[in-house]
Amino acid sequence: MTKPLVAGNWKMHGNTETASNLAAQLAEQWNDHLPVEMVILPPFVHLAAVKAALAKSTIAVGAQNISQHEGGAYTGETSGEMLVDLGCDYVLVGHSERRELFGECSATVAEKFKAAQKVGLTPILCVGESLQQRQQQQTLDVVNGQIAAVIDCVGLHNVCRAVIAYEPVWAIGTGEVASPQQAQQVHSAIRTQLGDAGADTRLLYGGSVKANSAAELFAQSDINGGLVGGASLEAQEFLNIVKLAE
Ligand code: PGA
Repeated sequence: MTKPLVAGNWKMHGNTETASNLAAQLAEQWNDHLPVEMVILPPFVHLAAVKAALAKSTIAVGAQNISQHEGGAYTGETSGEMLVDLGCDYVLVGHSERRELFGECSATVAEKFKAAQKVGLTPILCVGESLQQRQQQQTLDVVNGQIAAVIDCVGLHNVCRAVIAYEPVWAIGTGEVASPQQAQQVHSAIRTQLGDAGADTRLLYGGSVKANSAAELFAQSDINGGLVGGASLEAQEFLNIVKLAE
């Protein structure tokens, strides 16, 4: 049985003090025995403080981005080795904000995915369609295409070892959550694309997940947890969401 996973994407919010405090609150209130994995994805500069605050808990830490390069003259970039050195286990790859606002194309996303696995990090590969693509009935083509680009680069087996987060772009930060049926339809198409090798791959839903929408989403047969943005910045709300993935 696949252990569900819920990840909190803090995006570019907070300072050292608020990040440490939020992590400490989560560590204090989290029941390590629940059959759900919790992952926190703070900004790079707060990774060390968050890791320290979580030292006595089983809550894992990851980064929001990774360089496709191993090291060298790449000003402003952060390598996979650096993330491992800080105690990260996970890294987001291809978040729609990276694709849209920072011009990351499918080839770059695939290179980043490969760089993450090379150092032992588990990539959380984000995929999802825009509102226009959904309206033009292109959702499944877009999502399957984004995953196919990574399969072409690293192979199906390696994609199945990762985590995939389906995040419709129109649902991110908008308060407009996909219906459980809409989400399940896409998750099922991803599961079909992965075939037998992906039977246990964790497929997360992301996009305006809140405690009041999580239960029904997480109850869908091909949804194995969530990727949560805004609602992960509030300890109690996030803990409530994570518990619902049980
Ligand atoms: P949201 O963000 O929950 O605030 O919509 C999700 C994400 O971007 O991962």
